[in-house]
Order: sequence, then structure tokens, then C-alpha cells
Amino acid sequence: MTAPKEISVPDRQDLRAVLVMQPGLSGALFDQQTRAELESLVDVDSDLVLHEFESPVALAALAEAEVLITGWGCPPITAEVLRRAPRLAAVVHTGGSVKGHVTEACWERGIVVSTAAAANALPVAEYTLAAILLAAKGARTLEHRYRSRREFVDMIADYPAVGTYRRTVGLVGASRIGRRVAELLRPFDFIVSVYDPYLSTVEADELGLVPMNLPDLLSGNDIVSLHAPALPSTRQMIDAAGLARMREGATLINTARGVLVDQDALVRELATGRINAVIDVTEPEVLPPDSPLYSLPNVMLTPHIAGAWGVEIRRLGVSAVEEIQRYAQGLPFAHPVTPAELAYIA
Ligand SMILES: NC(=O)c1ccc[n+]([C@@H]2O[C@H](COP(=O)([O-])OP(=O)(O)OC[C@H]3O[C@@H](n4cnc5c(N)ncnc54)[C@H](O)[C@@H]3O)[C@@H](O)[C@H]2O)c1
Repeated sequence: MTAPKEISVPDRQDLRAVLVMQPGLSGALFDQQTRAELESLVDVDSDLVLHEFESPVALAALAEAEVLITGWGCPPITAEVLRRAPRLAAVVHTGGSVKGHVTEACWERGIVVSTAAAANALPVAEYTLAAILLAAKGARTLEHRYRSRREFVDMIADYPAVGTYRRTVGLVGASRIGRRVAELLRPFDFIVSVYDPYLSTVEADELGLVPMNLPDLLSGNDIVSLHAPALPSTRQMIDAAGLARMREGATLINTARGVLVDQDALVRELATGRINAVIDVTEPEVLPPDSPLYSLPNVMLTPHIAGAWGVEIRRLGVSAVEEIQRYAQGLPFAHPVTPAELAYIA
């Protein structure tokens, strides 16, 4: 990762920050204390939250802004927007990916950019851990069987392989989330593998993960969890052939992006009952009303909830304020984004 260039220490009075995000989000990001901290660090009107760059109010704010504190719903910061923002030098994003709003023009100006992706990784990893533990126990299948048959199950005869002890988990992507999942899995007796073309065997070893190629990871694990970014190179990386390689009774967990999986092939494979899935993300979102994924008994389907929601959103706000504090002190961001990384990050 390239370190961002040194930032000059601005005079607090000069350091004007402006919030840009969808309506209603800033109240969830900044509780009273965090808002007070933000206001003590920079000159910001936290009641003014832009969600567009065209109105007279927005143009007046842009003319003064040195930092944009952005959130979900921030429109693209285009060359035209930058012309209206002559002092803009930093974008501190309260969400994960900055690809939707930080444009080429921003990189060309040398604007420094920070992301809250590390803070957003924590709830996704927690959701994944919960999904892995329940999948290992066969909880979804057994819940369905109990509800429909209303009788106890002969666990010894019918489910000899359930549980976590020496079961295997394969992670696709040593991303922020993938690494956090690996960390959360450490106290358990799983054997954890990883597929990531950007990870050296030395790094995998340091993380306590067994490096594998993708076909072997798919065929060699009881649970496979996807944590790679959506990129041209990862589109449908889990295709029909890959799904067919998965073990009988294995579980595919997707909290990453729907486009990583050939969804039609996944539906076909799930319909046979051979494998199970925990799916938080689909393509498209929302699924069409007649999608079999809504009703298949071996699928747990959630509406893109693994990332920060509810109280977890406050953690994103705190992360952004910490980054602004670093910027105000002339320090590099703790979570910078550089243009060179864009080809392989979310
Ligand atoms: N469900 C949710 O609510 C939610 C929330 C946040 C993020 N996400 C998704 O989770 C995924 C991971 O997010 P992140 O912030 O941890 O990502 P990240 O930006 O930290 O991941 C980048 C890393 O992914 C790895 N990678 C790149 N290409 C790969 C490939 N072809 N195969 C395997 N690994 C590859 C590389 O190690 C790279 O450094 C993304 O798809 C993201 O969109 C979902």
C-alpha cells in the first residue's frame, strides 16, 4: 500500500468540512458525543448535509470546503464539482468503497482519500462467523426438518459430520473482511484455507491460513465463504463447474457481492439439495418476486444486512472523526485509499 503524501497542518479555523450523504444518514453516524468531537476539530455545520452539488446552498458550501465528509448516497465528485471546490484537499468517507463518488478528477488533483471499510468489515465478519457456526451445526437444515416433521432426528445415524471440530472452512479473498473472519475463527477447531491471487504463501502462513487454488478450495472445504471484491476479474468466479465441485452438504456463504456467483447455476445446484447457502447479497438487489432463492429450504437469505446497520453505523462515524483528527494534525490517514489499489479493492 502506498503511503499518502504528507499533509500540511491546516489552521483549525481554516479547516472547513462539509457533510455530503443521503438524507437521514448523518444522525445515525454521529451521536451527540461524536458530533461534538467533530465540531471541536473542524469548522463544520453538522446541520448542513448536502446530497447534491447543484443548489446555491451546495455551491456556497463547496466554495469553502477543504474536507468532504462523505457517506452512502454521495454523488460523484466530478471535475465540474471540483471546479466549484477550489480548496478541496481531502475526502473522508464514512462508508466502505469510494469508487462510486471519488472520480479520476479527484485523484488527478491529488485529493487524499480515507475509507471506513475497516470499521464496516467488523459486522460483516461477525455475521459470517455466526453463519459459519450455524452452518457447521447443520442448524438451517435441521430447523427445517424439525418444523416440517415435528419429530426428533437421529443425529448419530443421519448427521455424523455436523459440528466444528476439525471441519474445514475456505475463505475466498484475504480482504479486510476475509482477514477479520480468519481472526474470529482462531479460537475454534476449524482448519481454515484461503484463495487469494494477491496473497503470498508467506502472508497466508502468517495469517494461519492454508493457501489453495480456487478449484481445490471449492472441493476441499465444508464451508466456503466469499470475501472478494466485485471486479471484472471476479465476475461469476463461482460458476457452475465450481459449484459442482463443492462437497455434498457443503455451505456457500456470500456476504460479498451477488455478481461473484453464477446465480442461475447456484439456484440449480441448490434445488438438487446437494449444497446449502447463506446469501446476504444477490444480483439484482432486490431479487425478482419469483426467485427460487426466496423459498428454497436450504437457503438462508437476508437483505444485504451483514454490513453496518443500526448502532454499528456509529462506529463508521467514529472512524471518520478519527481520520479527520489525523488530517487536522497533519498525519496521514490510518485508512487511506490510493488510486493504485483500485484495481483489486472493493
Ligand atoms: N454484505 C455487506 O453488507 C457488505 C459490507 C461491506 C463489504 N461487502 C463486500 O465484502 C467484500 C469484501 O470487502 P472488503 O472491504 O473486505 O474488501 P477489500 O477491499 O479489503 O478487499 C481487497 C482484497 O481482496 C482480495 N482480492 C482481490 N481480487 C481477488 C480475487 N480475484 N480473488 C480473491 N481475492 C481477491 C485482495 O487481497 C485484495 O487486497 C466486497 O465484495 C464488498 O463489496 C459486503
